[in-house]
Formats: sequence, structure tokens, C-alpha cells
Amino acid sequence: MQFIVIALILQVCLGQDINDNSFPDDFMFGTATAAFQIEGAWNEDGKSPSNWDVDIHNNNSIVADGNNADIACDSYHKYKEDVAMMKAMNMNHYRFSIAWTRILPNGYGGEVNQKGINYYKNLIKELQLNDIQPFVTIFHWDLPQTLQDYGGLLNDSFVDWFSEYSTVLFRHFGDDVKWWITFNEPQSVCSGGYGAGIVPPLIKSPAIGEYQCVHNLIKAHAKAWRIYDQQFRKTQKGKVSISLNTHSHLPATDSKENRTAAETQQLFQLGIYANPIYLGDYPEIVKTRIAARSKAEGRSQSRLPAFTRDEIDFIRGTYDFFALNVYSAYLVNSIAEPPVTDPPSNWADIGVNTYQPDDWEKTSAEHIKVVPWTIRPLLNWIASHYNNPGIVITENGYPSWNGDKDDRRLYYIKNYLSYIRTTMEEDGVKVLGYTVWTLLDNFEWTSGFTQKFGLYEVDFKTLKRTRTPRPSSIFYGKVSKTRCLVEKCK
Ligand SMILES: *[C@@H]1O[C@H](CO)[C@@H](O)[C@H](O)[C@H]1NC(C)=O
Ligand SMILES: *[C@@H]1O[C@H](CO)[C@@H](O)[C@H](O)[C@H]1NC(C)=O
Ligand SMILES: *[C@@H]1O[C@H](CO)[C@@H](O)[C@H](O)[C@H]1NC(C)=O
Repeated sequence: MQFIVIALILQVCLGQDINDNSFPDDFMFGTATAAFQIEGAWNEDGKSPSNWDVDIHNNNSIVADGNNADIACDSYHKYKEDVAMMKAMNMNHYRFSIAWTRILPNGYGGEVNQKGINYYKNLIKELQLNDIQPFVTIFHWDLPQTLQDYGGLLNDSFVDWFSEYSTVLFRHFGDDVKWWITFNEPQSVCSGGYGAGIVPPLIKSPAIGEYQCVHNLIKAHAKAWRIYDQQFRKTQKGKVSISLNTHSHLPATDSKENRTAAETQQLFQLGIYANPIYLGDYPEIVKTRIAARSKAEGRSQSRLPAFTRDEIDFIRGTYDFFALNVYSAYLVNSIAEPPVTDPPSNWADIGVNTYQPDDWEKTSAEHIKVVPWTIRPLLNWIASHYNNPGIVITENGYPSWNGDKDDRRLYYIKNYLSYIRTTMEEDGVKVLGYTVWTLLDNFEWTSGFTQKFGLYEVDFKTLKRTRTPRPSSIFYGKVSKTRCLVEKCK
């Protein structure tokens, strides 16, 4: 591992050659979107408001440009255009999410909204007509407001709400959908929504709400996976996993302290979710650090809830592949133990320093610097910690302003794919597919329309929401067709 990092740093300094081996025929190339970010039609056909609809309508200052997602890309009405764009790029799969609020407007119980079901049936039919695999995210952040009013993911009932909703989706769509993702980026949900983060409502004790959310979310994922396994797998023959997000965390120097610090950071960001699901229970370092700091704060028990023996067994093994969202990397170094604070913080629980060197290329997002070579140590880390599972990259992409720098988007995608190909070939890591975030410019949550991740540009100035291909989409379409990153593969 250390050797790989050093070899890669050398390779970066010398400039890398793009890998000229073909990708396997069954490697999946696709793009990803999320319901809230593209659909619009926020109150049509029986849909209820999500927490995001309500929070932004209450205070649009939480969005950088003061916009809302009432129309977004209007994909609720333009989904056939979206599919045609993917067809033009020879895509193998389309990762999209289903809006809980269209399917179960009450959140749980009550009627299934047939018009909501119809919309996704039509989308899936259009994908199949064009030979594109539907790859469905069950929950991509837009929670029914009715459930947010009950505390959202902090309520223990969330486990039942979520598994009931998932069951409805398996029943209605499972004959056609073979790839399922329960949650998109739990770390963003729990840290952003219930921790120190950006999404209201802000909870007063960050590191307490965050871990309660983590705990309920993992249990909800496991229950949905078990339901699929017991009731649907035999007839539907699909795969279910969870899209975990992390940066690649690399030791700032090769010292023992800094290597331990990087490992700790990776286990707190990724392992807190992946270990219970892939191995059983939270990582030891996560449990001991939070317990020790909780004690120092004068608490009688750890702020991180404990799983029972039965829960550990119930959660362990609830995956069919490893789904990874990754955009960038951080270097990590050790620091002195941070002092006890009130309220406690997740940052102090981890107890390391992370940073991105100034000479890493910037994008329009603070935390997304362009370091494609860092995918290789991360994929190796996942392979070695979790028994070399099949990995699908479910998000990776480049944000710019107003469509400029599309050449850097192209560079980013090409170089990530090149290092992924090399990792498959030389390290034996099993990567099954790659998914660009995102198909088209969309409503980037609190960044509104200011950040452009799209392979297609969208004109948000008129209601037509005209889509125009960027050069990066032509490049990516060619890669999917030829399975090759260069003019001619070996
Ligand atoms: C609206 O959001 C902004 C930005 O987060 C915040 O500064 C402001 O206090 C909020 N206004 C209200 C009335 O909550
Ligand atoms: C949790 O949800 C249940 C409904 O399932 C509700 O009755 C209860 O009041 C909620 N708890 C809180 C603290 O909101
Ligand atoms: C750890 O990394 C930091 C940041 O690069 C560096 O200043 C420090 O000297 C390193 N520690 C050791 C023991 O190498």
C-alpha cells in the first residue's frame, strides 16, 4: 500500500500515460441523477412536499443563488429527452432515484400513489426500449416532510418507515430493476442533516444526532436488504447495496503516526457504515474513541449507540456489491488529542487533521480538487478491508461554473477511468462499473444552479430547459462504445 502510494506520487510528477487496455465487455458505463435535483413538478400528481421543498420554500437564503427546485430540469415531463441523451452516449445504465413523496405521500401507511408509480414505470420502460439498465436509488435525501416532522432519521420508527417504502418499490418495480441502492451517501445525510452540517433543521448537539442517524440508517438498510433477500430475490434476481461516500484519505507522510491518523479518518468516514454491513459492528477505533470522549464529557454512556449481538448478525452481510461515491482526496496527519467541548463534535471524535495541498487543481467546489491518482489507493483500501467485493463507482464527476472548464471535466473522467483500469489490471481489484455525476446540469442542493456537473448543459433561463451536449459527453459516449480511453486500445 505504501509502495503503491509512493509509486503513484512519482507517476503523477512524471505525468501519467492513459491506460490503453480495453475495459471488459460487461463493464458498465452510466450516469447518475437524483429525483429532487432534476424532476421539478414538486406538487404534481399527488406528490407531497419533501423536507427539501419545505426548507427551501421557508427560507431560500439557504441556497447559494436563492433558487428552488420547483421546476429543476423539468425531467418529470422531459424524461424521454433525458433517455435520448443517454442513448446518444451509448450508456449501459442509468442511476436515478425515486421520490418517496410521489409513491407514499403520507410517508408511511396510507395509499400508494398510482400516478407516482406510473411516472417511474414509464421512465423504466423508456430505458428498456433503449437498452439501458435502470439502477435505482431508493432514498436520495428527499424525505417526506410528514416524516421529518416526526424527527426523520432520529426516530427509531424510521427503520420501519424505510423498509415499508422499500417493499413497495421492490413489489412494483422489481421485475424490471436488477440494481438497487438503499441510501445515497449516508455520511452526507447524517452529518449534513443531523450533525454539524448545512441542511436544516440544525440539531444542537451535533455529534449526538449524527450517530443516532447513523445507527437508524444502518438498521433501515439492513432490514430492506433482508426483505429483498427473503421475499424478492428468488423471483427478481437483483442486487441490493448502499452508496457510501468518502474521500481517499492518505497519510501526509509515511510516519507511523500519520499512517494511523489516515486509517482513523477513513474508518470514521467510510468504516462507520461499511464495517457493520461488510464485517459486522462499528470499527473498534470508532467505538473506543467515542466512548472515551463521552466519558471525559461526564456521560454515563457512549454517544455512539451500541448494536446488540443479534443486530450485528442481522446487519452483517447485507450487501451484494460495494457502491462508492468518490470525488477527491485529503492528506491526513496526527494531532494532539482535541479538548472536550460542549456540544461535542464529530471532528474532535476523529481527532486528526485533514488538508488538501494548495498545488492540487481546484474546481468550483471547495472540497473537490482534481487528484484522479488517489482512486487507486482508495480502491485497494476497500478491497483489502472488505474482502475484495465487486465495486461499482456510483458517483464521480467534476463541477464547474457556467459550463466553462469542460476540458477539465473531460480530463477528470478520463484520468479517473485510467487509474481505475490500472487498479483492476495490476492490483486485481474488481470494479464492475462507473457512473458519472451527472447526466445534466441540475439543482445542486444548497449550491442551487451555481455548480455545473453536467455532461449536458441545461439552460435554466427559460422554461424549456434546453439541453445541449458538452464535448465531455461526446468523449464519454465514445469510451462506452469503444471500451477504450485512447485512440486505439491494445
Ligand atoms: C435563512 O437562511 C440563512 C442562511 O442559512 C440564515 O442566515 C438566516 O438566518 C435564515 N433566516 C431565517 C428566518 O431562518
Ligand atoms: C416517532 O414516530 C412515531 C410514528 O411512527 C410517532 O408517533 C412519534 O411521536 C415519533 N417520535 C417523535 C419523537 O417525534
Ligand atoms: C505528519 O504530517 C505532518 C503534515 O505533513 C508533518 O508536519 C509531520 O511532520 C508528520 N509527522 C511525522 C511524525 O512524520
